[in-house]
Amino acid sequence: MSKKSLAIVILAAGKGSRMKSDQPKVMHELAGAPMINHLVRTAESLDPKKIVVVLAPGMEQVERAALPHAVAIQKVANGTGGALKAAMPALKGFKGNVLVLLGDAPLITAKTLKGLIKAKDEDSAAGLSVLGVELENPSGYGRLVMDKRKTLSKIVEDKDASAQEKKINVVNSGAFCLDGAKLEGWVKKIKNNNAQGEFYITDLPEIAAKPGILTKVALAKDANEVRGCNSRKELAELEAIVQERLREAVMAKGVTMIDPSTVYLSLDTKIAKDVLIEPNVFFGPNVEVGSGAHIKAFSHLEGAKIGKEATIGPFARLRPGSELGEEVRIGNFVEVKKSKIGKRSKISHLGYVGDAIMGEDVNFSAGAITVNYDGFEKHTTVIGRGVMVGSNVNLVAPLSIDDGAFIAAGSTITEDVPADALSIARDAHKIREGWAAEYRKKKQMVLKKLRRQKKAS
Ligand code: UD1
Ligand code: MG
Repeated sequence: MSKKSLAIVILAAGKGSRMKSDQPKVMHELAGAPMINHLVRTAESLDPKKIVVVLAPGMEQVERAALPHAVAIQKVANGTGGALKAAMPALKGFKGNVLVLLGDAPLITAKTLKGLIKAKDEDSAAGLSVLGVELENPSGYGRLVMDKRKTLSKIVEDKDASAQEKKINVVNSGAFCLDGAKLEGWVKKIKNNNAQGEFYITDLPEIAAKPGILTKVALAKDANEVRGCNSRKELAELEAIVQERLREAVMAKGVTMIDPSTVYLSLDTKIAKDVLIEPNVFFGPNVEVGSGAHIKAFSHLEGAKIGKEATIGPFARLRPGSELGEEVRIGNFVEVKKSKIGKRSKISHLGYVGDAIMGEDVNFSAGAITVNYDGFEKHTTVIGRGVMVGSNVNLVAPLSIDDGAFIAAGSTITEDVPADALSIARDAHKIREGWAAEYRKKKQMVLKKLRRQKKAS
């Protein structure tokens, strides 16, 4: 069987009014990435000649998310058939297979789509195939009306279905594979004489079948794959499915999760093998973890690169731009932002490091922080290798501390420190012998006098 060339059209112009949002539906995120990105990623994996995303006017955000792929604008929201029509100019002259996907059903896998294409291509008399799915509760979905030989004769939308048709539990997932050479002729024949007064893409099987072209159904094995997202509740349900898939993929690559159901990943999270992840860890977008690292409970990571064998948390926060070298230790209640931390350096408890460049083997003690913001601008702190920063130190940036320097606990450092120096910037230590005893005696005498006066009055 020769492999036909492929074009993919993603319909995403719908308002998604049931989401009750100012954002287009496909910009709502699953695993830290807009729904549209999930679909585009899957579409790209099929190696098509072209991907066209159909949008409504004013959806520039989606246009940017879909880059570098082409966009077609559906000027009036007149149904899925209207959306496909809007994509036709972008498909001019294309005679291969046209795969149509719904922007609000982002969980579909490449494997299932290959099955859909195969269902059409394996029979040379077939002009289209539809991805169907069997549902216990089919209400709301378009029903696939098939004859005894499982040939599709038409799709009926829920709102247009008779009582008998409503009993059919094989529904339209929304994904189609269509013969590009015939498509333009078919699309012209779609009419809007239905309950919603819209142009339905689901009219295509009946249009194609009329002159005797075979129309096929491929059944999806996993109903979750074709789940649509029409409300916030469904968005949360889809998120749960995506998370489950991502966790399984991560574990399959040699990562241990003590309680996977409490670990949240992003679509682009990269975790190397032999990483141990404790419960309740959140990976925001753009996190990379090197092999053998240990991510302890209740840590929140985003935009961070973590070196091999590093230990993070418990209760650590890594913000965008954090780059941690091998064997770095970030302990509890430590926040790191836009900073490079050299190999084996330790920030073990209660610290803030922002806009810093820290060398190797630095010890950044409890309560020490970089003071990186002057109310107007951010400034950089450079800390050399082997520096010892004592507890409760404020490093007021811009500042440079050279290799091997010691910063005394409790200091507020505002000037650069040379290599191997000791820097102390706090009040001199004073001792007054007997001061406390004297103070207590005086205080007790005053209190006694007051009590006597009260009794007398
Ligand atoms: C659609 C199908 C239905 C199927 C269901 C699966 C039609 C007529 N119905 O119904 O058979 O069972 O999906 O989830 O196709 N869109 C546009 N332009 C429009 C209208 C919609 O681009 O004018 C896009 C939307 O952005 C969305 C997709 O098409 O991504 C589906 O639209 P939606 O309104 O959600 O259709 P359903 O009612 O779910
Ligand atoms: Mg829908």
